[in-house]
Amino acid sequence: MATALALEPIETASVDELRALQLERLRWSIRHAYEGNPRYRAKFDAAGVHPDDLRTLADLARFPFTTKADLRDAYPFGFFAVPQEKLSRIHASSGTTGRPTVVGYTRKDIETWSGVVARSIHAAGGRPGMKVHIAYGYGLFTGGLGAHYGAEALGCAVIPMSGGQTEKQVQLIGDFRPELIMVTPSYMLSILDEFRRQGIDPATTSLTTGIFGAEPWTEAMRAEIEQAFNISAVDIYGLSEIMGPGVAQECAESKDGPTIWEDHFYPEIIDPVTGEVVPEGEEGELVFTSLTKEAMPVIRYRTRDLTRLLPGTSRTMRRMAKITGRSDDMMIIRGVNVFPTQIEEHILGCTALAPHYLIEITRPSRMDQVKLLVEGRAGIGDNECVRDGKRLAERIKTMIGITVAVDIQPAGSLVRSGGKATRVLDLRPKA
Ligand code: DLL
Repeated sequence: MATALALEPIETASVDELRALQLERLRWSIRHAYEGNPRYRAKFDAAGVHPDDLRTLADLARFPFTTKADLRDAYPFGFFAVPQEKLSRIHASSGTTGRPTVVGYTRKDIETWSGVVARSIHAAGGRPGMKVHIAYGYGLFTGGLGAHYGAEALGCAVIPMSGGQTEKQVQLIGDFRPELIMVTPSYMLSILDEFRRQGIDPATTSLTTGIFGAEPWTEAMRAEIEQAFNISAVDIYGLSEIMGPGVAQECAESKDGPTIWEDHFYPEIIDPVTGEVVPEGEEGELVFTSLTKEAMPVIRYRTRDLTRLLPGTSRTMRRMAKITGRSDDMMIIRGVNVFPTQIEEHILGCTALAPHYLIEITRPSRMDQVKLLVEGRAGIGDNECVRDGKRLAERIKTMIGITVAVDIQPAGSLVRSGGKATRVLDLRPKA
């Protein structure tokens, strides 16, 4: 049942072959955007570039960026490049403020998407004939349906559980015996709590692999989940504007950061301040250009995700380093730039503390104050938790350079994630 499929030829093609395919597809995509969408035409004209100017992959840097604000301004369908009757699906991502960002797919786009998700699940260790429990939310969010179509395309049986109803998640994992689970890492922790609450050892389930993404998570969190469930945990990356889940996937055999499916999504890393492309391997903001998308081609979309491009290992395609955070998640505390993942790493280094936390920032006088609410692990004594809390504050001070007041909370008291976790509560007055 669990035989590996042959990889698609492009996954192991030479770098030259991959670059040649990318150039051919990029030419098509740039022209399609220009001819199919008046906004792209206006943007390219204003920047003084034309699709004919794209002769090499490096020429892409001459084309203007597309931002989330551009997409919002064009709400709902202003970046679509095909007539409405060619659409087959519409999704939307709700930002923290304002209008949602709307994305569209043709029938062929849905096939492409299912194909890259199927490839992702296979890279994660999924095989035809396996059962996949999907606990990403279904609906306008791309997670549930994106995973669903991909799992079906691979030949798996899908259990479309969606998010929420945590007790039932535990029951169905026990009764239906899936090998794979696809869910946000923070919601996997809620499921973990529920297993323990019901007195079931999470290491004894049928699960062998978890495919986790949609939010940043650390290596320490990977270790926590792998140990508790006795599974292999791999990272899946994606965003609605580019496709949904399956833009990049970590391979089970190397677990060294997601491989970007570069035959469909062309990555660049830029300096977020100057907009210049940075030398390969340097950290910056990830920018994507879709190479095959029909309904909504995206040219140089600024993801706001911060990472680095790394050479391919298990596949020809390049990898991305695990995402440190989004530029929007970066907290500036008394001038120090901090991401929630940096704090998470240190929490997980304390054995008495659980990976459930909330960072609360206030500015009672003119100075920023940070309170870190973090739960003690169930069954661990208060004294030990307090001792680890002190140790945590010291480590954060030494390693990150900010002062935090660690406030230990009883096990199970912080609000649990039902999908993407909220890690920061910024109560500072808006400038
Ligand atoms: O979160 C798509 C998705 C669903 C990916 C299920 C993986 C699994 P959006 O709601 O548009 O789409 O959010 C996209 O989520 O720009 C990142 O900031 C963050 N993100 C997604 N995957 C990861 C990951 C989906 N593996 C935004 N690690 C992206 C870190 C991630 N952040």
